[in-house]
Amino acid sequence: MSLADLEKQALAELESTSDEAGLRAWHNKYFGKQGEVILATKKVGTLPPEERRAYGQEANRVKEVLTAAHDTAEARIKERALEQSLSSEGIDVTLPGRPLTRGGLHVASRILREIAAIFADLGFQIYRSREVEDDLTNFELLNMPPYHPARDMWDTFHTTVPGVLLRTHTSPGQIHVMREHCPEPIRVILPGMCYRYETITMRSEIMFHQVEGLAVGEHVSMADLKGTIVAFARRMFGEERQVRIRSSYFPFTEPSIEVDMDCIVCGGKGCGLCKRTGWLEIMGAGMVHPVVLKNGGYDPAKFSGFAFGMGPQRITMLKYAIDDIRQFWANDLRFLRQF
Ligand code: PHE
Repeated sequence: MSLADLEKQALAELESTSDEAGLRAWHNKYFGKQGEVILATKKVGTLPPEERRAYGQEANRVKEVLTAAHDTAEARIKERALEQSLSSEGIDVTLPGRPLTRGGLHVASRILREIAAIFADLGFQIYRSREVEDDLTNFELLNMPPYHPARDMWDTFHTTVPGVLLRTHTSPGQIHVMREHCPEPIRVILPGMCYRYETITMRSEIMFHQVEGLAVGEHVSMADLKGTIVAFARRMFGEERQVRIRSSYFPFTEPSIEVDMDCIVCGGKGCGLCKRTGWLEIMGAGMVHPVVLKNGGYDPAKFSGFAFGMGPQRITMLKYAIDDIRQFWANDLRFLRQF
């Protein structure tokens, strides 16, 4: 068979090949060990020398054409096989979507918002005060001169700048808000982070939120304070929650009280969280001391006020029966995802 006929025949057969088995057979027939193309190429040695060159070139050309045609046919057959299996076997080639991990509000932020919403209903605005304070505002203007022993109630982180410290409570915000709004009446809460140089335990952290409350005006009384606390407790914990008010001492309030709630972890029996007392202290409060009113710019003869300071982490622990305050900033997702 001439090379031209071989080429024609091989191309025609390739054309009618429609599956991989056929293609393999075709390849074997022309390019296998005894393949016709291979044999035709080898034939060059048997020719008279003057014909060899032309024949060799032609044989190589045919080989190249057929190789290219084979590759094209192979691609066509593979494509068709894929199409066929897709349509006949109905394979679902889509992957399930990758789920988006959604962020959420930290439980501490959620409680802060809940508290803010309750006090908003009671007519309290939010006032944001600084976390880095000076000794003057954190202590002195709150009726605690440098020598005052009551300073021992707040173990303090001091900065390398003398007199500059991390606030130990949100109470210095009282001074800022009073000086800003004096002599207008005030009804605000001051939420934010506080810092204390303390041993970290189940119930105390070196950083924690406080929500301060302050109401200043004419004829603001202790009854207003009690009514506000009870209204808050009922909204936050439900009608049945037990609240206990004890007399206490703070340099910046007179008289001073502390408010307790029954411990949700143990139901009042006594456990590690409530230090076996059955009660958890949720806030300190009192009537704003005349010296503090004066430092805020108000005349204590004309104005009076109440103030309270609570720990929202404590409140969250009560609400969700969390027994360890260290969970809040531990960044353990197993804890955080529960809320
Ligand atoms: N600042 C007090 C504390 O951190 C709490 C408090 C606030 C008490 C306002 C009375 C009035 O312990």
